[in-house]
Amino acid sequence: MTSAGYEIALFPGDGTGPEVLAEGRKILDALAEGDASRWHLTEYAGGGQYYQRTGREVEPEGLDAAHRADAILLGAVGWPGASLPNGDLAGGALVLGLRQSLDLYANVRPCKLYEGVQHRISDGFQKVWAPKNVDMVIIRENTEDLYAPLRGRLRRADETELTVDTRVITRKGAERVVRYAFELARKRARGAPEDGVKRVTCVDKSNVMEGCRFFRETFDRVGKEYPEIERDYAYVDAFTQWLIRQPEHYDVVVATNMMGDIITDLASVLQGGMGFAAGGNIGDAHAMFEPVHGSAPKHAGKNVVNPFATFSAVEMMLRWLGERHADAALLRQSDRLERAIVGVLRAGAARTYDQGGPVSTTGAGDAVAGAIRGMAA
Ligand code: IPM
Ligand code: MN
Repeated sequence: MTSAGYEIALFPGDGTGPEVLAEGRKILDALAEGDASRWHLTEYAGGGQYYQRTGREVEPEGLDAAHRADAILLGAVGWPGASLPNGDLAGGALVLGLRQSLDLYANVRPCKLYEGVQHRISDGFQKVWAPKNVDMVIIRENTEDLYAPLRGRLRRADETELTVDTRVITRKGAERVVRYAFELARKRARGAPEDGVKRVTCVDKSNVMEGCRFFRETFDRVGKEYPEIERDYAYVDAFTQWLIRQPEHYDVVVATNMMGDIITDLASVLQGGMGFAAGGNIGDAHAMFEPVHGSAPKHAGKNVVNPFATFSAVEMMLRWLGERHADAALLRQSDRLERAIVGVLRAGAARTYDQGGPVSTTGAGDAVAGAIRGMAA
């Protein structure tokens, strides 16, 4: 932090990323009115499209800025046809690279269905889930597992003979993410919607994989330090049906990286779709916040996508900064944004196409910025 306030590095990235990030900025500007010194926003270029134009994944100052910033806000990365010579995602330096280089080990993905939002399970089930049934946080390990950059391809003559992806689960990696989950469960006021019990569910495939057995052993060892929190277990295959059949059972869920990637997209259906899914990539010294939906190339440039995931990402960012710096004013700002989001959604005042409404991306941003202005700071 400098005298100018918190330094926030913004990476709009690809596709719809810049559109939703512009709305995130609009919200931050509305919050900062009359209090403009609290944060300082700087945008940096990067991503797959930037790579196609320049041959670089991120502008040179961008990565330094990410390391220096108090927090990072990312739009989305990935563009059809944009890949590095080795086949990796161009722009991956931003999302996967920063997760590694800033050691952002906990990927925190809340899954909460707000009043006024329709879940996205097929139309036949419109009335099944009430908002009160869906209020969990999924914690995905974010630095190892199949995402460890230990992979390769063996070619003989011109033919690929063999490919390998190495699944790495370490004591340190498992322990810190499991601890993060139990600490979060301790802080959450209400526990699981079903019964109010504070519960952490370990999602794994420990009936088959050694790494998962170790992850679950670690879960038990660390979890014993939290006797007031229930330890709960699910094999990932069974979890996918329980998640949909009884979401009210879940409070905090912890999973390894790849399984966490998959189950959080599934869970987003319960909260109204990817348009509402926000994530925080959190480490001990740095954090990066993002809407989880990605660059959505087919919607890019049309001003139609749902920016609420970005608003929730901004809210998470302000809360993380406020807690980290014991900054009560910032915590009040994040509460204020939450109230604005809840109010606008409850009123059905900003339904974008994915919710069957006519409101544009910028229209939804205007609605939430207006709600913020109508509220005391
Ligand atoms: C996510 C995304 C990323 C991931 C992609 C863009 C590499 O799907 O954040 O969930 O796989 O982690
Ligand atoms: Mn994903």
